Amino acid sequence: MNTAEPPRITLVLGASRGIGHAICRRLLAAGHRVIGVARTFSASGSDHPAFTPVVLDLSQLDELAARFQDLLEAHPVIDAVICCAGRGRFGSLEEFSHPQIRALMELNFISHAYAARSFLPAMKRRRRGHLVFIGSEAALAGRRKGAVYCASKFALRGLAQALREECAGSGVHVSIVNPGMVRTDFFDGLDFAPGEEARHHLLPDDVAAAVQLILDARDGAVIDEINLSPLQKHIVFKKDGGPP
Ligand SMILES: NC(=O)c1ccc[n+]([C@@H]2O[C@H](COP(=O)([O-])OP(=O)(O)OC[C@H]3O[C@@H](n4cnc5c(N)ncnc54)[C@H](OP(=O)(O)O)[C@@H]3O)[C@@H](O)[C@H]2O)c1
Repeated sequence: MNTAEPPRITLVLGASRGIGHAICRRLLAAGHRVIGVARTFSASGSDHPAFTPVVLDLSQLDELAARFQDLLEAHPVIDAVICCAGRGRFGSLEEFSHPQIRALMELNFISHAYAARSFLPAMKRRRRGHLVFIGSEAALAGRRKGAVYCASKFALRGLAQALREECAGSGVHVSIVNPGMVRTDFFDGLDFAPGEEARHHLLPDDVAAAVQLILDARDGAVIDEINLSPLQKHIVFKKDGGPP
């Protein structure tokens, strides 16, 4: 008798690079079918037979309801949604224009609230599913130069905590992972980066492993929140925006 379970189908928002890409790789290796969303995909990494790339700009909020509906029609069963897309912009509040404040909140928070709004109802009807948000250590404490970024991640964490309670009776697991500094393209164009030594930064796969742990929890248990950080916090400030 074949007792193998059908592959799980996981949607990863922000799948082309960094943490999201590592999550895709790890889940594909574990036998998931993965639908990945980003604005651009390089050939490498998106050619796995169980990977479906979907080109979508999550900052185009007015298009998201319809595009998510298309995804639901193409993939009526989505077992897990991983909300990972995001970007960093740092500086004192006065260094942000009004549109810049709005743009960061829209990508880092509102696009994921829209995704949750779109994908939760089907999960609740099936009485199973996972919604995993990639927060940040910036969701845990406000820090100078992080006013808007921290606000976007605090908002995401508030959403995750509220949904966690709301969804408990519907069989849907809601979780958030809050990493410290991870070595990715996130720091391109920023004036700081994590240190080079292995103990000074997380690797994208460290975060992917936390996500896999969440997805593999037994149905009756939820891993609400995982905080992880490099062994030793070490920030390198770049000169003239170049490499550290
Ligand atoms: N790196 C860190 O130290 C760190 C620490 C804590 C939390 N985080 C969080 O982790 C998440 C991933 O960051 P990362 O370090 O992996 O950054 P990354 O390497 O820059 O990757 C960002 C991902 O988000 C996607 N993305 C960005 N803007 C998008 C848009 N408008 N529409 C669709 N996709 C978009 C990117 O794809 P395209 O550019 O191809 O669209 C890419 O796949 C973010 O939410 C970030 O806040 C990062």
